[in-house]
Amino acid sequence: MKKYKVGFTMGVFDLFHVGHLNLLERCKELCDYLIVAVCGDDYVTQVKKKTPVFTEEERIRIIGALKCVDEVSTITLDEIDDKMKAWERFHFDVLFSGDDWKGSERYNRTEEQFSKVGVSIEYLPYTKGVSTTEIKKKINSDR
Ligand code: CTP
Repeated sequence: MKKYKVGFTMGVFDLFHVGHLNLLERCKELCDYLIVAVCGDDYVTQVKKKTPVFTEEERIRIIGALKCVDEVSTITLDEIDDKMKAWERFHFDVLFSGDDWKGSERYNRTEEQFSKVGVSIEYLPYTKGVSTTEIKKKINSDR
């Protein structure tokens, strides 16, 4: 039996790479049903101040095709900012997040809010040496 029934995670997942795959496979090891929310192009341009290489429709198709993912969804800027709003829509038992967020003010606040409704947060290890930013740099240096 797995530790949780419904798990939830979110991300941009641009230029899908093995760090993304490691994360999603680890999430699925811990829950029966994994929901992945893909951040929209508006989040990438407005908040991350980057231009996505793949559109949100393409990123959603790629994530949705993975066997470790049971459901894929879009997510609003409000729900990204306030994880309680995401929980009100998706009703997950656990939020999975990269361990780089552990101890941050935002996640401490979310932990407090989630404990009141019986939702856990699991911090999963970030895969070192690969990221969308690094891939973009590599491609540019090869030109
Ligand atoms: N992730 C991970 N290991 C990596 C890269 C990403 O575990 N090497 C996880 C992040 O912690 C997040 C999810 O994958 O939970 C989506 O991350 P995203 O920001 O889309 O990926 P990055 O490759 O880190 O993108 P960027 O370089 O633009 O920040």
